[in-house]
This record gives sequence, C-alpha cells and structure tokens, in this order.
Amino acid sequence: MAYLNENYLKLQAGYLFPEIARRVKEFCETNPDTAQRLIRCGIGDVTEPLPHAVVEAMKRAVDELGDRETFRGYGPEQGYEFLRSTIAQHDYRDRKIDVADDEIFLSDGSKPDCGHILDILGDQNKVAITDPVYPVYVDTNVMTGHTGPAKADGSFQGLVYLPCTAENNFVPQPPKEHVDLVYLCFPNNPTGAVARREQLARWVEYAREHEAILLFDAAYEAYISEPDIPHSIFEIPGARECAIEFRSFSKTGGFTGVRCGFTVVPKTLLARTENGRKLPLHPLWHRRWSTKANGVSYPVQRGAEAVYSTEGREQVRALVNHYMGNAKILREGATNVGLRVYGGTNAPYIWVKTPAGTTSWEMFDRMLNELNVVVTPGSGFGAQGEGYFRISAFNSRVNAEEVARRLGKLS
Ligand code: MLT
Repeated sequence: MAYLNENYLKLQAGYLFPEIARRVKEFCETNPDTAQRLIRCGIGDVTEPLPHAVVEAMKRAVDELGDRETFRGYGPEQGYEFLRSTIAQHDYRDRKIDVADDEIFLSDGSKPDCGHILDILGDQNKVAITDPVYPVYVDTNVMTGHTGPAKADGSFQGLVYLPCTAENNFVPQPPKEHVDLVYLCFPNNPTGAVARREQLARWVEYAREHEAILLFDAAYEAYISEPDIPHSIFEIPGARECAIEFRSFSKTGGFTGVRCGFTVVPKTLLARTENGRKLPLHPLWHRRWSTKANGVSYPVQRGAEAVYSTEGREQVRALVNHYMGNAKILREGATNVGLRVYGGTNAPYIWVKTPAGTTSWEMFDRMLNELNVVVTPGSGFGAQGEGYFRISAFNSRVNAEEVARRLGKLS
C-alpha cells in the first residue's frame, strides 16, 4: 500500500472557513425558519458585482478566443507581458518603487502562492508567523513537514510565534532569536492593523542582518486610507534583497471567484544552498511555474488588466469605498454596545474583543443563535486570537446596517 503524507494528520480540525461553513449549515438545517435571516460576515468574500470595465474586457477576450484569427492557446506560464508590465508600472514604478516587469508572476491568487512559495524554499528554514494569523501560512508549513505536532492550544512545535496583541497594536517586533522566514500581512488579516514605515524598516533591517526572507502579504493594500502607510514592502529601502510580496485582485477587483493574483520575486533576492552558495530565487520560481502550471486564463488576465484602466480604477475605488463604508458602520455598531473594537480603518476587517469571560467560539455561537450573524472566531486564527472575533465588512450596505442594528441587541 502507498504511504500518505502524515503531516496532514497533524492538522487538527478542518480549515477554518469550511469548518465555519459546516457549523452554519448545521444551524440552517436545525433552524430552517431563521436561516433566511442569516447574515454572513464570516469569510471575507466579496458580494458586489465585478467592475464594469473588467466584465467588458473579459467578454472581449472570450470573443477573441472564439475567432480563429485572434484565438490563443497556452500563454506564458508566468503571465502575459501586457499584464506584467501594467502591474509593474501602476502598482510599483508609478509609486517610485523599483520592480521590473519580469519580477511579477501571475497566479490564481495570493492564497495559493503563499503555499506554493514553499516549493522553492528549503525545509531547514526556521519559520516565524504572527499570532493571530491567516491560517494558510501555518497550515501549508504543517503540510510540508516544517513543524512538529500540534500542542494543546493549537500551535505547532517548531514554529516561532510572534504575538500580536492590543498592547503592541497587533504589530510585532522582530524576535530576539534567529529565524529564516517571516510571514507578515499588512493591512492585517484578521486584526485590520497596519504597519507603519518605521516598523517595516525594522523588519527589513532584521531580515538583512539575519539573511532572512520576509514573505509579505499585501492582499489588502487597496484598503489603506491613512497617508504614509506603506502599500508595499518594497517601499522600504533594502527590501529587494530580503522580501517577496504577494498581491491579489480578490479584494480589489472582486476576483474571489474569478481568481487572479501575483507574486513579486526580485532578482536581487538570494537564498543559500546547504554548502553555503548564495543563489537568486527568481529563476527557481520561474522554473516552478514553467513546470507545474500553465498560468492564468487569458480572459481573466484581460479582466485584471482592465482594473488598471482609468474606468477600472474609478470602479475599484468605488468598490473599496463601499466596503469601507460598511466597515465604518460595523465599527460604530460594535462600539455603541460597549465592545472594544480594532481595525476597520485601513482594512475591511473589524477585530472585536469578546465580552469578559466569553471565548471566541462561544461568541461565534451567540452571534449565530441570538443575532443570526456569522462571524469568525478569533481563536481560529491562533492562540492569541482567543477572546476576539472578526466581522468582515464584505457585504451589501443593507446587510451591514442590519448587522449594526442587531449588534445593538447584545446585552
Ligand atoms: C478571510 O476571510 O480571511 C479571507 O477571505 C480568506 C482568503 O482570502 O482566503
């Protein structure tokens, strides 16, 4: 009999969001009359339709594929030049950030890339993650065998956890000890916190001193509203030698179902072999894509390109403003009942302290049963998330207002 990957057996429960979906399904089956009232603010999934510019661009691309003269087969595995250059220009060079077209690698989203990146990194690396954290960073390291078994609190042996608490404004300092890889996500999922320039500069300094790599997830950068908050790790001098950045069209263009994101791997980023040679990672990531994938579909890449058109940018701005309008309403709703609220200013997530003595899952159950609102329990993001819950602002305005109204009923 063939052997299975036993690392998967270390993962205790299902992935957080399917687990929430399972509980919600069970609730709906048991309470069919209330199911209609349910408002989902759990997973951060967009609700508003795709920007018109994106829809039109995708339709044109499909028409091209339906015509012998303009038909295209396999595209470049790393993404079409038209999209790579558009991204590099608009997201980086227009903001005076040095990124070349061929340092952009298109994919079906930043979630998959956060997992795939481990393909080109050694198993010897000591990995640090923030706590609470987007569970993908942890679980993909568990699956790859980079951790020991789970401990009682759900954390894994072998990982270095960086506590993100109200005391440090949910932005951790670099650790005293040496680590090789650090996952950072700003604006942060789940806490909604942002890292200021000097905080990121400290991380870059740490990474350069320790020859470590920062795996920087900037999926929510479009939600930054305050000036002077970096949108990219590459705004920090020296980051090209120590960082990889993940970006996504999911939360900007509403692509959670369409699927498109990209990873920036600078050619100046080196990692070492077992015998001490220092080599660039860029060719390895290029090779990985050429071998394991055939890239993102042509209509989707044309849709992503349209996000950067004048019309597309206006429509994306309107989408972001819509969700951030919800965030404000939800923040106020939670604050008005005396809850302690974080986030929701530079990110579409509200991170809420549970009332004293209530665990995250107890609060999840209360919100589900009493208010018929689905939230995400903070403990699902890590031990330090215990005692918090997350409300997603991805919803219609009507629903956001209704959730704020229902929050008023919390005693
Ligand atoms: C979340 O709710 O944390 C996100 O939607 C998950 C994701 O982007 O994969």
